[in-house]
Amino acid sequence: MRRLDASKIPRHVAIIPDGNGRWAESRGLPRNLGHKQGTEAVRVVVRAAHELGIERLTVYAFSTENWARPPEEVEAIMDLLDRYIVAETDYLVSNGIRVEVIGRMQMLDARIQERLVEIVRRTEGNDELRLTFALSYSGRSEIVDAVRAIAREVEAGNLEPEAIDEKCLQAHLYAPEVPDPDLLIRTGGEHRVSNFLLWQLAYTELWTSETLWPDFTKSDLVEALAAYQQRERRFGRTGAQAREPVS
Ligand code: FPP
Repeated sequence: MRRLDASKIPRHVAIIPDGNGRWAESRGLPRNLGHKQGTEAVRVVVRAAHELGIERLTVYAFSTENWARPPEEVEAIMDLLDRYIVAETDYLVSNGIRVEVIGRMQMLDARIQERLVEIVRRTEGNDELRLTFALSYSGRSEIVDAVRAIAREVEAGNLEPEAIDEKCLQAHLYAPEVPDPDLLIRTGGEHRVSNFLLWQLAYTELWTSETLWPDFTKSDLVEALAAYQQRERRFGRTGAQAREPVS
């Protein structure tokens, strides 16, 4: 496995785990088995992220667009999520992992909502790795929800339109205190953002892989981190400016 610079581990890694369906279809298996194996990869990668010292991991587990998939597939993914939480609770609780959720939770089945509320509550004192699942999530909906909340404050007379700036919008996102991802990993050979964290990805480094999500392992994660460590993050400045120490 590659050597990593421990001082340059990205603090927040976001993942679009793509390719479950193709993984199954290429083996002549039903798509749901791809999602099952994809859940196993989530389990493996959460442990790996923890071991590697990543502070935050955000996984795009179900998009608002995914509701349009055949009902059996939606049900299978929800069932896997449910089972994942049940099977992983002890590990998450006792290993300092704090679970959080972003997205339009009200669209999820009541049973799943309860399960999520419970795991969020049981892990809220943990502070080693913050693991966020984006569920029934889309970046555009998140921005729409933030704008609605801001509009309500303006309507109530509690906010001047001139006071609306980037900081204000950020403060109305689903997880306002979470810093933007440093690195976005997308598997499955596609090179797009697919409505994920549209606001937060402004200066995130992107890394894509041909590997289908169910085949993704710790060594793939290490490869992504090694590539990240070679990048120069300029945030719109020149290379020379970006290398100057922040005063
Ligand atoms: C993308 O593969 C994956 C999904 C839409 C669902 C992701 C679900 C999991 C990783 C499992 C459940 C989640 C958790 C948090 C345990 P795809 O179906 O779009 O694959 P394809 O592009 O090959 O069709």
